[in-house]
Formats: sequence, structure tokens, C-alpha cells
Amino acid sequence: MRKLAGLLGVFVIAGTVAVAADDPITTRISLMDASGAATALAGGMLKEQVPYSPAAGKAAIASWHAVAVSFGDYLPEGSEDASRSHAAPKIWEDRAGFDAELAKFEEASDAAMKASGKDGPPDLASFQKLAQPVMGTCKGCHENYRLED
Ligand code: HEC
Repeated sequence: MRKLAGLLGVFVIAGTVAVAADDPITTRISLMDASGAATALAGGMLKEQVPYSPAAGKAAIASWHAVAVSFGDYLPEGSEDASRSHAAPKIWEDRAGFDAELAKFEEASDAAMKASGKDGPPDLASFQKLAQPVMGTCKGCHENYRLED
């Protein structure tokens, strides 16, 4: 049952993408919302406000990974729209720089996926070791490539 909950998180993300594939802005914001939700879950467990479970740890890691590998597909040229998106023009002015930040997110979440096995990191300390490098990549990209409110 717990394993199922982890898988469901991934399916929810996949479903969101399928529905909104014709609107890259809605899709990328939904993806980042999922990344935010995974980070809230991870943070809650790391602060011991939410009980840790391997399945929940795996769900957070799988969500980050799903977002990291797909986010770049939803930033086509011309999809800048300050009225509903916080994607900074710099993404398209300096795509290589943006892609380098995205690659850090992908690499950290990929390493966490591989190291966490099928059942998830067994305890909070091992989850922390895998989650922290992933969470360390958010800020570098947001600072340069996301507009403030
Ligand atoms: C490679 C760049 C990059 C990385 C890495 C990244 N983000 Fe984002 N994030 C963005 C961009 C760009 C937006 C704005 C998207 C838009 O509004 O079109 C965004 C938006 C968001 C949003 C707001 C979504 C909304 O409702 O508007 C949240 C929450 C978020 N990111 C969380 C995270 C978390 C948590 C991480 C790390 C685990 C992360 N992001 C890593 C680029 C990144």
C-alpha cells in the first residue's frame, strides 16, 4: 500500500503532462508545483514534522526526477508570457546557462533515483544524503532564470 502511494505521485504528474501538453506554460508551472510539493514533503520529513517512510522518501525523489527530466521540454521559444509565467527572458537569451542549471537538477535527482532502490531510502539519514543535493539545485536556477512576483 505504501509503495502504491509513491507510485501514485508519479502517475499524477504524468497525467498532468498529458492533459496540458498543448499549453507549455500550464504544464511547466504544474511540473514545478509538483517539485514544490515534493520539497514540502521532504522538508517536513527532514524537520521531523512528518513521519519518515521509505515510500514517501522515494515518492519525493521520483517526483523531482520526473520534473527534472521533463521541464526543459516545456520552454519553447516564444512561450514567454509575463502575465501568467515567471519564466525569465534570460532562459532564451542564455539557453546554455539555463540548460546547465537544469542538468544539475537532473543529475542530482538521477543519482538519488539510482541510490534509493525500489523501496526508497531505508531511513531519514539516508534520505537526507540523497535529497539535499537535489534541493540544493533549486535556488541557483530560480535566482537567474525565474522572475520574482
Ligand atoms: C533549471 C531551472 C530550475 C530548477 C533547477 C528548479 N526550478 Fe523551479 N522554476 C523554474 C522556472 C523557470 C519557474 C517558472 C515557471 C513559469 O512560471 O513558467 C519555476 C517555478 C517554480 C515554482 C512556482 C510554480 C508556480 O506556481 O508558479 C516552484 C514552487 C518551484 N519552481 C519549485 C522548485 C523546487 C522545489 C526546485 C528544486 C527541487 C526547483 N523549482 C528547481 C526553474 C527551475
